[in-house]
Amino acid sequence: MKVTVVGAGNVGATCADVLAHREIANEVVLVDIKPNFAEGKALDIWQTAPINLYDTRTIGSTDDYSKTADSEVVVITSGLPRKPGMSRDDLIATNAGIVKTVTENVIKYSPNAKIIVVSNPLDVMTYCAYLTAKVDSSKVFGMAGILDTARYRAFLAEALNCSPKDIQAVLMGGHGDTMVPLPRYTTVGGIPVTELIAEDKLNAIVERTKTGGGEIVNLLGTSAWYAPGAAAAQMVEAVVRDQKRIFPCCVWLQGEYGLKDIYLGVPVVLGKNGVEKIIELKLNDAEKALLDSSAKAVKEVMNVLDKMNNAVSA
Ligand code: LAC
Repeated sequence: MKVTVVGAGNVGATCADVLAHREIANEVVLVDIKPNFAEGKALDIWQTAPINLYDTRTIGSTDDYSKTADSEVVVITSGLPRKPGMSRDDLIATNAGIVKTVTENVIKYSPNAKIIVVSNPLDVMTYCAYLTAKVDSSKVFGMAGILDTARYRAFLAEALNCSPKDIQAVLMGGHGDTMVPLPRYTTVGGIPVTELIAEDKLNAIVERTKTGGGEIVNLLGTSAWYAPGAAAAQMVEAVVRDQKRIFPCCVWLQGEYGLKDIYLGVPVVLGKNGVEKIIELKLNDAEKALLDSSAKAVKEVMNVLDKMNNAVSA
């Protein structure tokens, strides 16, 4: 069983490495447009197999999508990352063209693949892949919620001096500063987090989570890769192993949460068919208002994409 990762940059290569190391697929194909880049990264990853003791073959390809044929899952990480001072939305013009071309190539060789989008601006690039792929929306979804909840859980684990394994959380909305962590649905070993931490400390963690990607961009001068790559690999695993895991993912909403025709982060069940169920939580008025304002921000950028597409087709 084959999994393709498009984009052999930091996020794509990390994702491929996790997929191989954890034997989530038999074969991982890494594709990049830059000559020899994916081949080099793939060879280096493959040479860790005798050390890390796994069988997964990792191969690289310079823009030859025939090597990706019949992939069960394709992860799209292609596009430019952010630089300090940029919002994810600033990347739309460049990355929309890239994601469109990549998706066309992916679908040509793997018409039944589940497509996981990681490129930014995440929600709108997932929409772009969906428009291009012309497949059921259950097969095109984006990675953001696992990363954003991982950041939230890591901050909480530090503050509470407890294991991050014991922290369960859900977070909704777009992958941007309007994302909506939900303290009411956060537990630590089954205990509501609000019983373990003061409100002001929890609020500070929620705020830090919202700009967690930017914090790393400011430290590194480019965006994160270990956590985004691992998060995408976790979604691949849920699909290829048909785990029916519940994760917040960026999915196409058709009336859920009162929202329609929008890609946005909500909790879903992920299994072999992709998004197998969208879970509708009962949000209170304050949570719903935050989700609506996040949806509004995402919709504005989706409209920019629609205008770009209309200009091309006019
Ligand atoms: C981040 C990027 C990958 O949040 O969106 O780090």
